[in-house]
Amino acid sequence: MEYNHFYQQSILTRGKFWGRKAAKIDWYKAPKTVLSLDKHGYYKWYEDGELNTCYLAVDKHVKDGNGEQIALIYDSPVTNTKKKFTFSQVKERVSKIAGALKNLGVNKGDTVIIYMPMVPDAAFSMLACARLGAVHSVVFGGFAPHELAIRIDDAKPKVIISASCGIEFDKVIPYKPFLDKAISEAEFKPSASLILQREMLICDLKAGFDFDFESSVSAASPADCVRVKATDPLYILYTSGTTGKPKGIVRDNGGHAVAMQFSMDYVYNAKKGDVFWAASDVGWVVGHSYIVYAPLFAGCTTVFFEGKPVRTPDPGTFWRIIEENKVNIFFTAPTAFRAIKKEDPESEYLKKYDLSSLRTIFVAGERCDPPTLKWLQEITQKPIIDHWWQTETGWAIVANMMGVEQLPVKEGSATLPVCGFEVHILDEAGEILGPNQEGFVCIKEPLPPGCLPTLWNDNKRFEESYLEKFPGYYLTGDGGYIDPDGYVFIMGRIDDVINVSGHRLSTGEMEEIVSGHPAVAECAVIGIEDELTGQKPLGLVVLKDTTTISNDEIQKDLVALVRAQVGAVAAFRTVVIVKRLPKTRSGKILRKTMRMIVDDVPFTVPSTIDDPAILEEIREIIMLSQIGKISKKQNLKYYINDEN
Ligand code: COA
Ligand code: AMP
Repeated sequence: MEYNHFYQQSILTRGKFWGRKAAKIDWYKAPKTVLSLDKHGYYKWYEDGELNTCYLAVDKHVKDGNGEQIALIYDSPVTNTKKKFTFSQVKERVSKIAGALKNLGVNKGDTVIIYMPMVPDAAFSMLACARLGAVHSVVFGGFAPHELAIRIDDAKPKVIISASCGIEFDKVIPYKPFLDKAISEAEFKPSASLILQREMLICDLKAGFDFDFESSVSAASPADCVRVKATDPLYILYTSGTTGKPKGIVRDNGGHAVAMQFSMDYVYNAKKGDVFWAASDVGWVVGHSYIVYAPLFAGCTTVFFEGKPVRTPDPGTFWRIIEENKVNIFFTAPTAFRAIKKEDPESEYLKKYDLSSLRTIFVAGERCDPPTLKWLQEITQKPIIDHWWQTETGWAIVANMMGVEQLPVKEGSATLPVCGFEVHILDEAGEILGPNQEGFVCIKEPLPPGCLPTLWNDNKRFEESYLEKFPGYYLTGDGGYIDPDGYVFIMGRIDDVINVSGHRLSTGEMEEIVSGHPAVAECAVIGIEDELTGQKPLGLVVLKDTTTISNDEIQKDLVALVRAQVGAVAAFRTVVIVKRLPKTRSGKILRKTMRMIVDDVPFTVPSTIDDPAILEEIREIIMLSQIGKISKKQNLKYYINDEN
């Protein structure tokens, strides 16, 4: 099929196109209306359709006679476990978890937080919520209690599902103390928790509040699928914005199901029975879309991996799993491959395994740097497809659509817009820019099915964050350009969001935490380049004149503070004490200018700057921090801790 024609249909005859795609879904009540506006003037898809997401992912396959097909393969090198679940077994487990939730009072429309490591019951719990029409919100295990508390207060879950521990490489991470701390910090109190006890660490349960997952599930009667409206929420997934308060991205049921199935057919070219592996975590959008929902909707087998690309136990783990499970499509973040490349540059481990089942490797989550792309192409001899998307959209905005037409790859570009996404580059005034001109990457409304209808209980922030800057367009938060062939190049975030190891983090939030320290007068946290993780946060801190604590102590305090508030995943390890920060005469810190220094792009010194000489000083700090060369001894003007 020709890409251009197919893409144009999705835009020019939008209703007909997405109506036909919806017909591939097994609705309880097929929608007559494809696209409409709600009372706030927001677009909604398939408003009169009715369905159940869990039915589509699980029950349908059993009903169609595929109950004995493997639905999920759990591979956990950190616990030496390998386990396979058929669609029938998944149905049984999910129905019982749904029953246990029902016994705790969870009904259609209620919210449930899932704070779990990568155990299959995390996926089954998500499906169990969907089965009941309850709204799940999965919180990534690497977040600290404070982050969990913020999400509890926003999502107001009736029940929280968690586990006794997670495993990071060889470290057992207790989850229960984090959960207890979060619940005590949050103002909103859930009515119960379900705790999965893992044998590596059994935790204490509070009578009357904490219920043992296994015994509650065994004792429950299976619950059936509940019919929901296409526009009813399926889940909330919090993602970093520019402030300390994360954004609750809402996903609906109907548009999501259509988009997921469409993406499996046309972006990934995945067929029923294929083995699809997204090596990520259920706490991220990749985990929601491509570990759990899309592969199951499409009748594929999904691989559920509890481990890391390296040191669990070696850099051959990915290749072993691909060979053993005959994986056809593999998806992960470029940082995972950079970690493998660092430990196995000659790809000796890869040579031990047979990758003949593998058709395509997809990467996303951060920019795929050309050296990693080339290395991967060379060692695997497979098509490497970079595709660009974000939590908000839930699926690819720009990709080489492998189920449509395989287009030539251009290094540094995720290729062309995916059907339904009308991508434009706008300048500050909202004018559409021409080829090769860099600006704000925006998507003309309406966004296709599956994208966020709004933010959880926060229409105002939804409008302010995404819609107000350029009326009629959705602002992605990324900067970039489109070349004369229409290839989209994403150059990075234009706001206070950074991407560390494929994890989206808010520098704005880190700044709020750092500036809360009594010794700090003011600070800026910016993302600097890192060879392995893509970006890493650098804290530039000005101390109060009255401070008597040593620089060393302050730096350690600040690192510990961010770790305690955001979590280990923040990877905030570098703090430089500076005498001053670049500011305007009115006192506004010039973050954008600092980002431009990091990116090494030419910029004009803002006319409002109070002291232009400071920019040179900052440039030097950034440069030295990026190459890890700054040290106490080397420089007296500024100062850095040794954890670099
Ligand atoms: N639960 C608890 N802690 C977690 C965690 C989790 N689920 N995930 C990460 N952490 C902790 C790590 O243990 C580490 O803690 P430490 O500072 O005590 O060592 C910290 O958070 C930083 O983690 P990370 O940035 O992941 O670094 P790492 O050295 O542990 O691993 C990689 C590096 C490259 C192997 C790892 O980042 C990786 O596999 N990345 C793939 C990215 C990915 O899947 N992205 C999802 C989008 S597709
Ligand atoms: P998240 O919401 O966590 O998926 O992060 C989304 C952000 O990650 C995007 O806005 C981009 O900044 C970045 N990103 C994701 N995929 C890519 C990609 N393929 N190329 C460049 N940046 C990407």
